[in-house]
Amino acid sequence: MFKKILLLLITGVSITSLGMAGCTNTAQKQDLEAQVQPPTLTGQTETPTATTQPQERPADVPYVPTPQPVVDAMLNVAKVSKNDVLYDLGSGDGRIVITAAQKYGTRGVGIDISPERIQEANANAQKAGVTDRVQFRQQDLFKTDFSEATVITLYLLPEVNLKLRPQLLQLKPGTRIVSHAFDMGDWKPQQTLQVEGKTIYYWVVPEEIPANLR
Ligand SMILES: C[S@@+](CC[C@H](N)C(=O)[O-])C[C@H]1O[C@@H](n2cnc3c(N)ncnc32)[C@H](O)[C@@H]1O
Repeated sequence: MFKKILLLLITGVSITSLGMAGCTNTAQKQDLEAQVQPPTLTGQTETPTATTQPQERPADVPYVPTPQPVVDAMLNVAKVSKNDVLYDLGSGDGRIVITAAQKYGTRGVGIDISPERIQEANANAQKAGVTDRVQFRQQDLFKTDFSEATVITLYLLPEVNLKLRPQLLQLKPGTRIVSHAFDMGDWKPQQTLQVEGKTIYYWVVPEEIPANLR
């Protein structure tokens, strides 16, 4: 099952074509116990303090990074700017949040359930010199309040996107959502593009939730 999930993430092949009914990933349990305290988003430049917190439950999606040209295209399609607050739900090594901060001065928050990924993302933010604009929180994305976001980025799995969809539709109208590889079922994207063989989907939260998505 783990190999199938990885294949799905890497290729973006339809979940049904792989004959998968559910993709809860039990093989991804991380045992690294380093967590980094989130810095405040404004004006903080000092090194975050490392603490330890074991991973609360297995991840829903294994770690596979988005290739950098796809990251660049995701930020480009959402027209990310310094006025945005970007949340990457399942932020991995932090590359989407960090690239947005470096290229556009965007404030960003990365959410990841894995302490190893959070530690890595904080180290990368440090190297990139963007710790005043980004923070990484070790949290379950299903228990996270991301209502302040103006841009959401995702590289999850089809059924995880669908589970998140009601919460995404409740965000402020105009909030932009970009997903690498997977769509949102009946919520049709405003734009779809191909970059290096990967598909990127783009939505804008509407003023009113369409009847078929309520
Ligand atoms: C496919 S990777 C994407 C990483 C990054 N967003 C990127 O595009 O490069 C998915 C990430 O989601 C994280 N993840 C899986 N389930 C999660 C959950 N319930 N809450 C928070 N993070 C989760 C994994 O640890 C992994 O780092």
